[in-house]
Parts: sequence; C-alpha cells; structure tokens
Amino acid sequence: MKYAAAIATLVATAVAAAHAAKDGAKGPNRSRRLKKGKTGKAKSDKDRGPCNGRGTVFAEESQVLDAYGFAPACSCFGCYSGDYCQYEEDIATCKLLVSDAELPLTTEGILEPRQITFSNTYRVVYQSWRIIPTPAETVNNNNNHILYAMYETLIKLHAAVGNAKTDGYQLVVGLGAHQLLQAANFAHAKLIQDKKGDPSAVTTIYSEDGYWSKMPRMAKAFAPSQAWADKGGAMAAETDESLVQLVVSPSNPLNLLAEDQDPLIAAKERQVWDLVYYWPSCFTDKARITPIEKDIMIFSSSKLAGYAGHRFGWAWVKEDAVATQMAEFISVTTQAYPAAEMLYNTVILEDILASIGTDNDFFVEVQKELMSRCLEMEAVFEATGGRFTNLTPCGNMYLQVECSEGECMQYFDAINLVVTPGPDDGLPANTARIAFGYERAWFDKIVQKLELL
Ligand SMILES: Cc1ncc(COP(=O)(O)O)c(C=O)c1O
Repeated sequence: MKYAAAIATLVATAVAAAHAAKDGAKGPNRSRRLKKGKTGKAKSDKDRGPCNGRGTVFAEESQVLDAYGFAPACSCFGCYSGDYCQYEEDIATCKLLVSDAELPLTTEGILEPRQITFSNTYRVVYQSWRIIPTPAETVNNNNNHILYAMYETLIKLHAAVGNAKTDGYQLVVGLGAHQLLQAANFAHAKLIQDKKGDPSAVTTIYSEDGYWSKMPRMAKAFAPSQAWADKGGAMAAETDESLVQLVVSPSNPLNLLAEDQDPLIAAKERQVWDLVYYWPSCFTDKARITPIEKDIMIFSSSKLAGYAGHRFGWAWVKEDAVATQMAEFISVTTQAYPAAEMLYNTVILEDILASIGTDNDFFVEVQKELMSRCLEMEAVFEATGGRFTNLTPCGNMYLQVECSEGECMQYFDAINLVVTPGPDDGLPANTARIAFGYERAWFDKIVQKLELL
C-alpha cells in the first residue's frame, strides 16, 4: 500500500510538474475537475491522480519505457484531452466509446489500490495449470500452495455469495471466459465426434437472441467442426444430439436470468452456462441469485471485478471427460495458465472476498454504483418523451436502448456515441447497447451525450 501510494505520488508529481510548466498550472475547466458526479464520491485533485480522473497512466511501465526515453503519460478517456486530460472537448463532436462491457469503476475507491510484486525469477518454467487440483491434493505440497490459495478463495467466494455449488466439480482455469467458452465448445465437439465415430461431424453452437456479440464469431472460427445457428438450426441439431447451447445468465445485453429467457433447447449435458454476470454486484435482486449446479459453469475476473486485461477465467465442470477435453484445449492453445497472472488474480479475489460484510463490501458498492448510473440515464431517456427507452432491467453494466422512430444508429452516430448496434447481439436495428461500467469521468460524458438525443 505504502509502495503503491509512493509510486502514484511520484508519477503524479512528475507528470503534473511537467505539464504545469508547459500549459500553465490550471486547465481551463479546473472548476469542473472537483465536480462530484450525482452518485460518485467527491475527490480531491490529489486523489484523482495525474490525469484528473479523466484518463489512465501506468507508472509501472517506466520499467520498460526508460530504455526508449519515454515516461508514463496520460491516456485520456474520450471527450477529454491535454497532457493531464485537463480539457473537455466539444460534447457534440467528440467521440465516446460505450461499446465495451468493462468495469473499471471498481478501481475508483471500491477495490483498494495495492502493489502486486513478483521478481524476474518467479516461476520461470512451465506450470501445467489447467485443471487445478483440489485443496486436499495441494495442502501438503509446498510448491502448489499458490493453487491451494486460489482454489480455496474461489470456493469461499462462491459460498459467501451463494451463486454456485463447487463440490464434486473439476476446476479448469483459462484466459478469461473467452478461452473457457472455446474450450467447452471444443470439448463437446470432440466428444460428439467420438460418440458418432465421425471425425468430420459438425457441432452446432447456439445462444438465444440477445447473445454476447462475440459468440457467433467464436464458433465460426472453428468451422467446419463447429457452426453457429439460429433457433431453427438449434432445434434441428438437438434432434441428433449435436447441439451445444450457451446459456448466459443474466444475459448480455438484456440482463435476464435463464428462467426469464426462452425454454432451453439443448439437453443439460450439452449446455454451457456462461455465468460471468451471475453475481450480486451485477444483478439487483439478490434473492434470485442462488447456488446453482450446472454441468459447466464459467466465471471470470473481467466481469466480476473489471480486470479484463488480466485474462483470468474459471470453469466448474461436472463431467471428467469434458474437463479433460477442456484442459486439452488450454494445453494446445496456450500450454497453461500464466504464472504471474495466477498470482495477480488470486490477490484480487482474496481482496474481494475479504471485503464481504465490511463497510466497503465489493458486491454492495458495485451494485449501488451500477444501479444509480442506470437510473440516471433512464431519467435522461424519460425527458425524450418516449423517443428512447431502456429495455434492460437496471443492475448490470449495460443497457439496451429502444429507439421509437427507426434504426438507432442514425441517432447515436449523429452524437458521436459509439454504441453496439442491436443486430450484433441478435436484436432489432431499432435497439442498441450502451455499456457504462467505466470510470466516473467517462460515465459523466455518456450522460452529457445522451442529453443531446
Ligand atoms: C456474456 C459474456 N461472456 C464472456 C465474456 C468475456 O469475458 P472474459 O473477458 O472473461 O473473456 C463477455 C464479455 O463481454 C460476456 O459479455
């Protein structure tokens, strides 16, 4: 903590001093800098760091930039500019991205900043981390206590939150839900081919409309052994047991639990449950988050905590044969989960677990912020007299807007707000997705943009 604060201060001081000399000590919008968002906590200039809370700067990168004569510098969010993001651009013409479901709001006072360190001698050889042995298998093995800590933390986290049973499962880790979804599709495709005795048998991958936009691409990339299908194609594939259904609960972008979606088509052993949003931080009705037990349950630290850049995902897998094939996919694609990231992500998970029940309970704080942001945007839509409405129950990090007067993109293109078009998620063109889990200053600009509609 002390080390982190020292580094942050050092960079803040260096960057601010350089810019103060260049631009004059105060930017033109200094009075706005301390402005508190409707729900955000007021922050002093010092807390807001060298980029005034309007951009990111990564002090640790000086370790490699030094060699090229660079220093860490601010990378400003859309609609802010200047060496320390001191300028606000014209709201009508500046370009603002809201097409990624990210959650960096956790870095602004919810998860304490802290330094995670490792040396260049840390676990330099192959680690074979794919299926993680149970705590009973690692407790007496000093070299594997890192795995013991990670596994125990996950068991405790699921138990404390009450969202998944973990007993009787194999734990498979991978590079985010991305890699684990691919691993699950691959495993089923392999097992279907083996069962049919046909190495060219095609496995059909399906997810209900209102799916995560990348899913079709992920299946098509593995053609001809995998194919993406709509509902009709899925029903046909189920008749010869070649269907894999990706069940996203709650769904992205409609935020619906599986029980509020269409009845499932695939048999339970060929369902892959993508539960990256199945946490009380992302879903407001906590009573509806219950410990479920599905054949494959996938989670990730991207959607749980906002650490998408660090690519940690985990899957609880019931069938040994499926877990073995998933591990095979991890092995042939990346050999194993990376050592430094295992340490990094276990630290994050331990911090989240430790926060439960405290005044800064991670799940409570994230939900509070996501809910208040959604309500704030709904109030803006209300002022449009029904031209724009939100279709998604508030509580998660995105919403699906409906545009009553035609295709949505014309309206969002006109205000330079980069949204996800409805058809990318299998939804109509008079809808579009807005993601809003970003930092507060970024979110403030989303609201200002929506006020232009
Ligand atoms: C439903 C769903 N599953 C998986 C992912 C990917 O998660 P990860 O970053 O862990 O690969 C996303 C990302 O947006 C998502 O929305």
